[in-house]
Amino acid sequence: HLNKFEALERKNAEALLGGGQARIDAQHKKGKLTARERVDLLLDEGSFEEIGKFVMHRSKDFGLDKEYYLGDGVVTGYGTVNGRLVYVFSQDFTVFGGSLSETHAEKIVKIMDLAMKNGAPVIGLNDSGGARIQEGVVSLGGYADIFYKNTLASGVVPQLSAVMGPCAGGAVYSPAITDFILMVEDTSYMFVTGPNVVKTVTHENVTSEELGGASTHSAKSGVTHFSCANEVVCINNIKQLLSYMPQNCEETAPLLPYTPAGDELRPELNNIIPENPNQPYDIRDVIQGVIDTDSFLEVHQNFAENIVVGFARLAGRSIGIVGNQPAVLAGVLDINASTKAARFVRFCDSFNIPLLVLEDVPGFLPGTDQEWRGIITNGAKLLYAFCEATVPRITVITRKAYGGAYDVMNSKHIGADMNYAWPTAEIAVMGAKGAAEIIFKREIAQAEDPEAKLQEKVDEYQQKFATPYRAAHRGFVDEVIVPAQTRQKLIRAFKMLENKVDTMPRKKHGNIPL
Ligand code: COA
Repeated sequence: HLNKFEALERKNAEALLGGGQARIDAQHKKGKLTARERVDLLLDEGSFEEIGKFVMHRSKDFGLDKEYYLGDGVVTGYGTVNGRLVYVFSQDFTVFGGSLSETHAEKIVKIMDLAMKNGAPVIGLNDSGGARIQEGVVSLGGYADIFYKNTLASGVVPQLSAVMGPCAGGAVYSPAITDFILMVEDTSYMFVTGPNVVKTVTHENVTSEELGGASTHSAKSGVTHFSCANEVVCINNIKQLLSYMPQNCEETAPLLPYTPAGDELRPELNNIIPENPNQPYDIRDVIQGVIDTDSFLEVHQNFAENIVVGFARLAGRSIGIVGNQPAVLAGVLDINASTKAARFVRFCDSFNIPLLVLEDVPGFLPGTDQEWRGIITNGAKLLYAFCEATVPRITVITRKAYGGAYDVMNSKHIGADMNYAWPTAEIAVMGAKGAAEIIFKREIAQAEDPEAKLQEKVDEYQQKFATPYRAAHRGFVDEVIVPAQTRQKLIRAFKMLENKVDTMPRKKHGNIPL
């Protein structure tokens, strides 16, 4: 059988070359790795098992009957990341520009089916010129098959998309449905229509990078959750992200070994809140003061910076954190902050990741811009996401908790399990000055010295309401704690909540205000 074994060896070698050495060189010249090099970087050494290596397209039109490549432009299979099973597809730009054919799509769908049945994440490494133009609607059908599977898999297994080259037209909607998108700076872009079409339709002159590069989508549109300096950073980010997640919706994330040091007090937290309640501070300092050292992975770092979201560990336990950011726009909730946080909350709830909310919010952002673009509907997304979440949920109010935003930010009333407040908390309908101006309007106007009267009333309101105690008297806050105790309290409370069971009323699905 020697000849037959040699023939197999030759075929295997041919498959590894994709579209050939010249195109591999061209890929490298653009500063990009090949599909296989990316898979090797992602998976534990020697763990990759390929599926469908010899698959070829079935097209005959426009000369395709004379051009075949083993694998048809996508490398698919399974392997492990830090010992945990994952499924992966990696588009090969050296084969027809990584374009998606009927068979290319079938390969992707096949591993998604396996992932759903076996309960493990799917990682897509995208680098593609879009639909295989020579195939026409057959290729579009392939895209739709993938979108459909992405949707069915949503909430069943984590789905991560790295965009490492072009991703245009319909192709963008697969990553968009997945849980997280990572883009590589300077070598990747995503848009529904490219610069040429944009110029014809809207007469705008824009480069691919400006229209849909990593910085655009990480800061302006929020389409991507991570903007990565290069492909290696991108793949490392994927691995780190996976470490906070369970394999599927039936499991919990891996608990890292943790040996209590005995003293979990963090005195530095006592000095974070400035004397003046209008002075900003960085909520990341609170996060760092509470979590296990170096365990924070911020998501959507450059988008809607008035709210901070990300994964961290607390005594080895994976948690999702949502924190108002007083250092940006005073931590106000606007449309982007609401949608950013809502999506993060829903991800965590889908995959049994407990939520910690750090609250310092002066309210929703006023103005025509926000109202006309629908802050009502969009703010409701965050409210709905919290209301619906059944994972362990804890809130720490560090300073302001004003108005409707108090309710929205994981208040006790909407199902939070434990709510703490620092003594610096101000839980009220609005700031003391605004409140005094409204409720004592006449009294102030009629006073001999309106300024002094206003100040007197502000002080009165502040003393009564700008504290955590009214809320604590009602049990809306479970305990008022010294900031230094926060870490210890949270470790205990999350441990207490680790077997929490809560269910939503039976329904087909809710109707989140989209
Ligand atoms: N279908 C079939 N083949 C495609 C393709 C597609 N959608 N996109 C690219 N290719 C092929 C090219 O013909 C070329 O083949 P070759 O190696 O035999 O010369 C190869 O992929 C590389 O493409 P090229 O244009 O040389 O690479 P580039 O880096 O200069 O540009 C794109 C990349 C994606 C911008 C460009 O190929 C493009 O615009 N493709 C079409 C995008 C599109 O409109 N897709 C359909 C809508 S979803």
